[in-house]
This record gives sequence, structure tokens and C-alpha cells, in this order.
Amino acid sequence: MQATACAYSNIAFIKYWGNRDHALRLPANPSLSMNLGGLFTRTTVRFSADLAADCATVDGQALQGASLARVSAHLDYARRLAGCALRAEVISHNNFPAGAGIASSASAFAALSLAAAAALGLELSERELSAYARLGSGSAARSVPNGFVVWHTGEDHASSYAESIAPADHWQLTDLIAIISTAHKAIGSTEGHQLAETSPLQAARVATTPSRLAECIQAVLSRDFERLARLVELDSDMMHAVMQTSTPPLLYWLPPTVAVMHRVRALRAEGVGVCYTIDAGANVHCLCLPESVERVRAELLAIQGVQEVRAAQAGSAAWLER
Ligand code: PMV
Repeated sequence: MQATACAYSNIAFIKYWGNRDHALRLPANPSLSMNLGGLFTRTTVRFSADLAADCATVDGQALQGASLARVSAHLDYARRLAGCALRAEVISHNNFPAGAGIASSASAFAALSLAAAAALGLELSERELSAYARLGSGSAARSVPNGFVVWHTGEDHASSYAESIAPADHWQLTDLIAIISTAHKAIGSTEGHQLAETSPLQAARVATTPSRLAECIQAVLSRDFERLARLVELDSDMMHAVMQTSTPPLLYWLPPTVAVMHRVRALRAEGVGVCYTIDAGANVHCLCLPESVERVRAELLAIQGVQEVRAAQAGSAAWLER
């Protein structure tokens, strides 16, 4: 009763921030992302009568306490569906260095969900798998389907899932990630989502997300980079406005983060196809058209405080290793 699955990380163009239901991770608003091809988690799950308790390692480090409990609770859902009480061993590796400032919870919970379901012989549809992954980390719902993905807010567990709007090969976008800090975040996203509603700006952000999402879907489908760039930056800025005005306020940006934002805007004004988006951290994801990649990479590396630049192109759906 063992299976191995892989899933890519993803970067949101329209951000998820705040929940309507924290326990179920039903989001306050719908979101849209692109899987990050090349940046993945590979996870093996083995259920066995020999195990007295669940155990898990990530990149060779044994999980303990709250992080092990989170994995265990996630496995419970699949165990309940399968009517199985066996404990499991989870072995997980990220192919990007831990602490490289690339979020791993999306790829981790997508891979864990697929591996656990397969190990137990559950035949889940992509929707069901996406909804299951959401329970571990909201953004993990979006790492299940292929390429460019929309996560519907939904009304309940079953209706809050993500689906592909276009496959990975639809548009050759590259995400150049300017790594500015590899430090562990003081406040992670699970806690951050709970603070969102303390910002007076969250209601306005949530109310206006559906129209930004609809326009962003059109921009992706028609490969309209100028339109995409405007929306992606606006949506990221709105999420950070909420973060910065919550109680307590969350300021994830560092001085080089702002320097990159200015540089990206200046480059686009010169006609270079690039825009920025920032998650709950200091690093900046710079989305580029193919012809802009080398210029943008050189420009980013020249900014003081940018430690390195990692590249990823649109990635496919989560997959099982046979
Ligand atoms: O899935 P979580 O709980 O790590 O939340 C992700 C939140 C952001 O990365 C900031 C935005 C997003 O939509 O990915």
C-alpha cells in the first residue's frame, strides 16, 4: 500500500488571502495561478500495519509537533474515505532547496494528497483531489490541475476546487524569482489568512476580485501580456495593502523587494514584457515573455540585495510515478 506522487509549486496571478471557513480552508475569494514547472515536491506514502504512528520526513528531516500533526490530519481524510486505520510513513523531497524562499506547501500537499489517495486505492477525480489538497494548504488545490488554473471559492468542501483553464503549453511565460530573503517567515500564511479580515481593505479587495479574475482569465486565454501585467500587479498590490493594514500589520517587503518593483515597472515602460507579483514573503516573482527573460534576469541580478534568480516555466498537473 504505497504510492509516489509529484506536484509543482504554483504562483498566483490573482491571489488567495483570507478564508470564509478556516477549518475547511474555504477561501474568501477565487484565485488564478500558473504551475511552476521544474519546482516540485516528490512524496512517497506507505501505509503499513507495522507502524504504530504516522511519521514523515521532508528533505531528510523528521517532522515533529504541529507539522507532523498537520500531515497526520491530512492523511486522516483519505483514511476515512478508504475506511482504513493503518498508520503511514511519508517521505518527501523538494527539488528546490528548503528555505530558498519558494513556497513548498502548495506542491507538498498536492503531492501528499495524490500519493495518499493512490496508496489507499481511492479513485478520486481531479476535482476531488484538488478539494482534498485544499484541506492541507489552500494554494495546494491549484497545484493539482495542469498549467493555468482557477480555484473556485465554492460553497462547501466539494465545490471549492481548482481546474485548468489552459494547459502548460498554452503560453510560454517564465517566472523569474528574485530571491531576496531565505529567512523563515515570522507569520506564515495559515496565520496570515486569519488576520485578513482585520484589515478595513479586505472587504473591498474581496468584492472586486471576481471582476479582476474574469479579466485575468481573458488576458491568459488571449495571451494579452499588457493586460495581464496590469492586473497581476494590481492584485498583488491589493493583497499587500490588506496585509499591511491588518492587525497586527504584516510587512513582508524588504528594501530590495521595493527596488525590484521599481525596476520591473521601469523596464515595462521601456517595452520589456515583465511584471511582478509577491507572495507572503520578500521575494519577487517576475513574469516574463520569452524574449524578455535574459534582459530581466541580468537586470534583477544587478539589483543590490537580490541573492539569486530562479526560473520556472508553466508546469503540468500533479502526477503519479509508476
Ligand atoms: O496556501 P497558503 O495558505 O500557503 O496561502 C497562499 C497565499 C499566497 O501565496 C500569499 C497567495 C496565493 O494565492 O498563493
